Amino acid sequence: MENKIANTLFIPFAARVFAAACFPEYFNDPVAVQLKNKIPPKFLKISSQYEMIASAARYYISDKVIMEFIDKYGKCNIVNLGAGLETVAFRIHNPNAVFYQIDLPEVIQLREEILPKNNNEVFIADSIFTTEWYDQIDKRKPTLFVANGVLMYFHEKEILQLIGNLKQYFPKSELIFDATTRFGIRCANFYVSRFGGEMAKMYFYINHIDKFIQKSQTRLLNAQTFFIDARRILGKKVNLITKFNMWLVDTFHLSNMVHLALSK
Ligand SMILES: C[S@@+](CC[C@H](N)C(=O)[O-])C[C@H]1O[C@@H](n2cnc3c(N)ncnc32)[C@H](O)[C@@H]1O
Repeated sequence: MENKIANTLFIPFAARVFAAACFPEYFNDPVAVQLKNKIPPKFLKISSQYEMIASAARYYISDKVIMEFIDKYGKCNIVNLGAGLETVAFRIHNPNAVFYQIDLPEVIQLREEILPKNNNEVFIADSIFTTEWYDQIDKRKPTLFVANGVLMYFHEKEILQLIGNLKQYFPKSELIFDATTRFGIRCANFYVSRFGGEMAKMYFYINHIDKFIQKSQTRLLNAQTFFIDARRILGKKVNLITKFNMWLVDTFHLSNMVHLALSK
Protein backbone atom coordinates (compact mmCIF):
# COMPACT_ATOMS: atom_id res chain seq x y z
CA MET A 1 0.00 0.00 0.00
CA GLU A 2 1.07 3.59 -0.48
CA ASN A 3 0.80 4.48 3.21
CA LYS A 4 3.42 2.84 5.41
CA ILE A 5 1.10 2.72 8.43
CA ALA A 6 -1.55 0.97 6.32
CA ASN A 7 1.05 -1.77 5.66
CA THR A 8 0.92 -2.69 9.36
CA LEU A 9 -2.78 -3.58 9.47
CA PHE A 10 -2.30 -7.32 9.04
CA ILE A 11 -0.10 -7.48 12.17
CA PRO A 12 -2.97 -6.96 14.68
CA PHE A 13 -5.40 -8.83 12.43
CA ALA A 14 -3.16 -11.93 12.44
CA ALA A 15 -2.67 -11.58 16.20
CA ARG A 16 -6.45 -11.52 16.73
CA VAL A 17 -6.92 -14.56 14.54
CA PHE A 18 -4.27 -16.57 16.40
CA ALA A 19 -5.20 -15.38 19.87
CA ALA A 20 -8.84 -16.31 19.16
CA ALA A 21 -7.81 -19.70 17.79
CA CYS A 22 -5.41 -20.51 20.68
CA PHE A 23 -7.08 -18.78 23.65
CA PRO A 24 -10.86 -18.67 23.05
CA GLU A 25 -11.45 -18.56 26.81
CA TYR A 26 -9.78 -15.13 26.76
CA PHE A 27 -10.59 -13.67 23.36
CA ASN A 28 -13.16 -14.66 20.76
CA ASP A 29 -13.34 -13.38 17.19
CA PRO A 30 -15.10 -15.96 14.98
CA VAL A 31 -15.39 -13.68 11.93
CA ALA A 32 -11.65 -12.92 11.98
CA VAL A 33 -10.81 -16.63 12.41
CA GLN A 34 -12.89 -17.47 9.33
CA LEU A 35 -10.76 -15.03 7.32
CA LYS A 36 -7.42 -16.56 8.29
CA ASN A 37 -6.66 -17.43 4.65
CA LYS A 38 -6.67 -13.71 3.74
CA ILE A 39 -3.53 -13.05 5.81
CA PRO A 40 -0.41 -12.66 3.63
CA PRO A 41 2.09 -15.45 4.54
CA LYS A 42 4.77 -13.15 5.97
CA PHE A 43 2.43 -12.09 8.77
CA LEU A 44 1.72 -15.67 9.75
CA LYS A 45 5.04 -16.69 11.18
CA ILE A 46 6.86 -14.20 13.35
CA SER A 47 4.77 -13.45 16.45
CA SER A 48 5.57 -15.10 19.77
CA GLN A 49 2.88 -16.28 22.19
CA TYR A 50 3.47 -13.16 24.30
CA GLU A 51 3.18 -10.79 21.30
CA MET A 52 -0.07 -12.44 20.24
CA ILE A 53 -1.62 -12.03 23.69
CA ALA A 54 -0.26 -8.47 24.01
CA SER A 55 -2.07 -7.55 20.82
CA ALA A 56 -5.31 -9.31 21.81
CA ALA A 57 -5.27 -7.66 25.27
CA ARG A 58 -6.05 -4.30 23.65
CA TYR A 59 -9.24 -5.63 22.06
CA TYR A 60 -10.18 -7.58 25.19
CA ILE A 61 -10.08 -4.33 27.21
CA SER A 62 -11.55 -1.98 24.60
CA ASP A 63 -14.39 -4.45 23.89
CA LYS A 64 -15.29 -4.34 27.59
CA VAL A 65 -15.23 -0.54 27.61
CA ILE A 66 -17.38 -0.44 24.44
CA MET A 67 -19.94 -2.84 25.99
CA GLU A 68 -20.08 -0.76 29.19
CA PHE A 69 -20.53 2.41 27.12
CA ILE A 70 -23.44 0.87 25.18
CA ASP A 71 -25.00 -0.44 28.42
CA LYS A 72 -24.72 3.01 29.99
CA TYR A 73 -25.96 5.16 27.11
CA GLY A 74 -28.12 2.91 24.93
CA LYS A 75 -28.16 4.31 21.40
CA CYS A 76 -24.65 5.57 20.70
CA ASN A 77 -21.77 5.87 18.23
CA ILE A 78 -18.62 3.78 18.39
CA VAL A 79 -16.03 5.43 16.13
CA ASN A 80 -13.06 3.27 15.30
CA LEU A 81 -10.16 5.54 14.34
CA GLY A 82 -7.78 3.74 11.93
CA ALA A 83 -10.06 0.70 11.85
CA GLY A 84 -7.91 -1.47 9.57
CA LEU A 85 -9.52 -4.92 9.42
CA GLU A 86 -11.15 -4.69 12.83
CA THR A 87 -14.14 -7.02 13.28
CA VAL A 88 -15.33 -5.42 16.54
CA ALA A 89 -18.85 -4.83 15.15
CA PHE A 90 -19.22 -8.62 14.89
CA ARG A 91 -17.69 -9.33 18.30
CA ILE A 92 -20.09 -6.86 19.90
CA HIS A 93 -23.27 -7.27 17.98
CA ASN A 94 -25.54 -4.73 19.64
CA PRO A 95 -28.20 -2.94 17.56
CA ASN A 96 -27.99 0.11 19.87
CA ALA A 97 -24.53 0.98 18.57
CA VAL A 98 -23.52 2.22 15.14
CA PHE A 99 -19.89 1.35 14.43
CA TYR A 100 -18.11 3.89 12.24
CA GLN A 101 -14.98 2.36 10.71
CA ILE A 102 -12.66 5.13 9.56
CA ASP A 103 -9.48 4.51 7.65
CA LEU A 104 -7.57 5.72 4.60
CA PRO A 105 -9.34 5.17 1.23
CA GLU A 106 -6.96 2.36 0.15
CA VAL A 107 -7.67 0.48 3.41
CA ILE A 108 -11.45 0.93 3.20
CA GLN A 109 -11.25 -0.45 -0.35
CA LEU A 110 -9.32 -3.51 0.90
CA ARG A 111 -11.79 -3.89 3.77
CA GLU A 112 -14.72 -3.89 1.35
CA GLU A 113 -13.00 -6.56 -0.74
CA ILE A 114 -12.13 -9.02 2.01
CA LEU A 115 -14.36 -8.42 5.06
CA PRO A 116 -18.11 -8.85 5.34
CA LYS A 117 -19.95 -5.67 6.41
CA ASN A 118 -22.25 -5.84 9.41
CA ASN A 119 -25.62 -4.08 9.25
CA ASN A 120 -24.63 -1.72 12.09
CA GLU A 121 -21.41 -0.56 10.40
CA VAL A 122 -20.62 2.58 8.41
CA PHE A 123 -17.32 2.82 6.52
CA ILE A 124 -15.65 6.22 6.17
CA ALA A 125 -12.71 6.59 3.77
CA ASP A 126 -10.82 9.56 5.17
CA SER A 127 -7.94 10.55 7.38
CA ILE A 128 -8.67 10.73 11.10
CA PHE A 129 -6.89 14.11 11.10
CA THR A 130 -9.39 15.91 8.86
CA THR A 131 -12.69 17.20 10.22
CA GLU A 132 -14.82 16.70 7.08
CA TRP A 133 -16.01 13.24 8.16
CA TYR A 134 -17.37 14.60 11.45
CA ASP A 135 -20.60 15.52 9.61
CA GLN A 136 -21.30 11.83 8.96
CA ILE A 137 -21.58 11.08 12.69
CA ASP A 138 -24.89 11.69 14.50
CA LYS A 139 -23.70 14.18 17.16
CA ARG A 140 -26.93 13.93 19.15
CA LYS A 141 -25.79 10.51 20.39
CA PRO A 142 -23.00 9.85 22.91
CA THR A 143 -19.79 8.89 21.12
CA LEU A 144 -16.91 6.64 22.09
CA PHE A 145 -13.77 6.92 19.96
CA VAL A 146 -11.56 3.84 19.88
CA ALA A 147 -7.97 3.85 18.56
CA ASN A 148 -6.21 0.51 18.87
CA GLY A 149 -2.71 0.23 17.45
CA VAL A 150 -2.92 3.60 15.71
CA LEU A 151 -1.91 6.68 17.72
CA MET A 152 1.65 5.51 18.37
CA TYR A 153 2.44 5.90 14.63
CA PHE A 154 2.14 9.67 14.98
CA HIS A 155 3.80 12.43 17.02
CA GLU A 156 2.43 13.86 20.25
CA LYS A 157 1.68 17.20 18.57
CA GLU A 158 -0.60 15.47 16.03
CA ILE A 159 -2.36 13.47 18.77
CA LEU A 160 -3.01 16.61 20.82
CA GLN A 161 -4.40 18.34 17.73
CA LEU A 162 -6.67 15.35 17.02
CA ILE A 163 -7.93 15.27 20.62
CA GLY A 164 -8.48 19.05 20.51
CA ASN A 165 -10.63 18.70 17.37
CA LEU A 166 -12.64 15.78 18.76
CA LYS A 167 -13.24 17.72 22.00
CA GLN A 168 -14.47 20.74 20.10
CA TYR A 169 -16.92 18.88 17.84
CA PHE A 170 -17.98 16.04 20.21
CA PRO A 171 -18.05 17.75 23.63
CA LYS A 172 -19.34 14.83 25.68
CA SER A 173 -17.40 12.05 24.02
CA GLU A 174 -14.81 9.58 25.30
CA LEU A 175 -11.67 8.08 23.81
CA ILE A 176 -9.92 4.80 24.52
CA PHE A 177 -6.49 4.00 23.08
CA ASP A 178 -3.40 1.94 23.80
CA ALA A 179 -0.20 3.64 24.84
CA THR A 180 3.20 2.49 25.88
CA THR A 181 6.27 4.17 27.35
CA ARG A 182 9.37 5.37 25.54
CA PHE A 183 11.03 2.02 26.29
CA GLY A 184 7.91 0.18 25.07
CA ILE A 185 7.95 2.11 21.78
CA ARG A 186 11.53 0.95 21.17
CA CYS A 187 10.48 -2.67 21.71
CA ALA A 188 7.38 -2.20 19.52
CA ASN A 189 9.47 -0.70 16.69
CA PHE A 190 11.79 -3.69 16.83
CA TYR A 191 8.79 -6.07 16.70
CA VAL A 192 7.12 -4.32 13.73
CA SER A 193 10.39 -3.86 11.78
CA ARG A 194 10.72 -7.67 11.60
CA PHE A 195 7.82 -7.67 9.12
CA GLY A 196 9.91 -5.69 6.59
CA GLY A 197 11.18 -2.24 5.63
CA GLU A 198 7.79 -1.14 4.28
CA MET A 199 6.37 -0.97 7.85
CA ALA A 200 5.95 2.45 9.48
CA LYS A 201 7.83 3.57 12.59
CA MET A 202 6.18 4.48 15.89
CA TYR A 203 6.81 7.70 17.83
CA PHE A 204 4.06 8.57 20.29
CA TYR A 205 4.46 7.30 23.85
CA ILE A 206 3.27 8.32 27.32
CA ASN A 207 5.73 8.13 30.20
CA HIS A 208 3.65 10.17 32.64
CA ILE A 209 -0.10 9.96 32.20
CA ASP A 210 -0.82 12.97 34.45
CA LYS A 211 1.33 15.22 32.23
CA PHE A 212 -0.49 13.99 29.14
CA ILE A 213 -3.87 14.65 30.78
CA GLN A 214 -2.75 18.17 31.55
CA LYS A 215 -1.49 18.81 28.03
CA SER A 216 -4.61 17.37 26.38
CA GLN A 217 -6.99 19.11 28.82
CA THR A 218 -9.00 15.91 29.22
CA ARG A 219 -10.18 13.85 32.19
CA LEU A 220 -8.73 10.45 32.95
CA LEU A 221 -11.44 7.82 33.38
CA ASN A 222 -9.05 4.89 33.65
CA ALA A 223 -5.54 3.73 32.75
CA GLN A 224 -5.48 -0.03 32.88
CA THR A 225 -2.41 -2.20 32.41
CA PHE A 226 -2.78 -4.79 29.66
CA PHE A 227 -2.70 -8.16 31.40
CA ILE A 228 -4.68 -8.06 34.65
CA ASP A 229 -7.37 -10.39 33.28
CA ALA A 230 -5.12 -12.28 30.86
CA ARG A 231 -2.84 -13.36 33.73
CA ARG A 232 -5.83 -14.62 35.70
CA ILE A 233 -7.58 -16.37 32.80
CA LEU A 234 -4.52 -17.77 31.00
CA GLY A 235 -2.22 -18.27 33.97
CA LYS A 236 -1.70 -22.02 33.57
CA LYS A 237 -1.97 -22.13 29.79
CA VAL A 238 0.92 -19.88 28.76
CA ASN A 239 4.66 -20.51 28.78
CA LEU A 240 7.06 -19.08 31.36
CA ILE A 241 8.43 -16.34 29.11
CA THR A 242 4.91 -15.09 28.36
CA LYS A 243 4.03 -15.18 32.04
CA PHE A 244 7.17 -13.23 32.97
CA ASN A 245 6.64 -10.63 30.23
CA MET A 246 3.02 -10.07 31.27
CA TRP A 247 4.06 -9.64 34.89
CA LEU A 248 6.86 -7.23 33.90
CA VAL A 249 4.65 -5.06 31.69
CA ASP A 250 1.90 -4.86 34.33
CA THR A 251 4.24 -4.26 37.25
CA PHE A 252 6.10 -1.40 35.56
CA HIS A 253 3.00 -0.05 33.76
CA LEU A 254 4.74 -0.37 30.40
CA SER A 255 1.55 -0.73 28.33
CA ASN A 256 -1.81 0.78 29.21
CA MET A 257 -5.27 1.21 27.82
CA VAL A 258 -6.01 4.86 28.43
CA HIS A 259 -9.67 5.87 28.70
CA LEU A 260 -10.37 9.61 28.62
CA ALA A 261 -13.40 11.83 28.86
CA LEU A 262 -12.94 14.46 26.16
CA SER A 263 -13.92 17.28 28.46
CA LYS A 264 -12.48 18.88 31.56
C1 LIG B 1 -1.65 -1.17 13.02
S1 LIG B 1 -3.07 -0.80 12.07
C2 LIG B 1 -4.35 -1.00 13.29
C3 LIG B 1 -5.66 -1.30 12.66
C4 LIG B 1 -6.81 -1.59 13.64
N1 LIG B 1 -7.05 -0.49 14.55
C5 LIG B 1 -6.56 -2.84 14.41
O1 LIG B 1 -6.37 -2.76 15.63
O2 LIG B 1 -6.55 -3.92 13.80
C6 LIG B 1 -3.00 0.98 11.89
C7 LIG B 1 -4.15 1.53 11.03
O3 LIG B 1 -4.14 2.96 11.05
C8 LIG B 1 -4.56 3.40 9.77
N2 LIG B 1 -4.18 4.80 9.54
C9 LIG B 1 -2.95 5.32 9.43
N3 LIG B 1 -3.00 6.64 9.22
C10 LIG B 1 -4.31 6.98 9.20
C11 LIG B 1 -5.02 8.20 9.03
N4 LIG B 1 -4.37 9.34 8.86
N5 LIG B 1 -6.36 8.16 9.07
C12 LIG B 1 -7.03 6.99 9.24
N6 LIG B 1 -6.41 5.81 9.43
C13 LIG B 1 -5.07 5.80 9.40
C14 LIG B 1 -3.83 2.44 8.85
O4 LIG B 1 -4.33 2.49 7.53
C15 LIG B 1 -4.06 1.11 9.56
O5 LIG B 1 -5.24 0.49 9.16
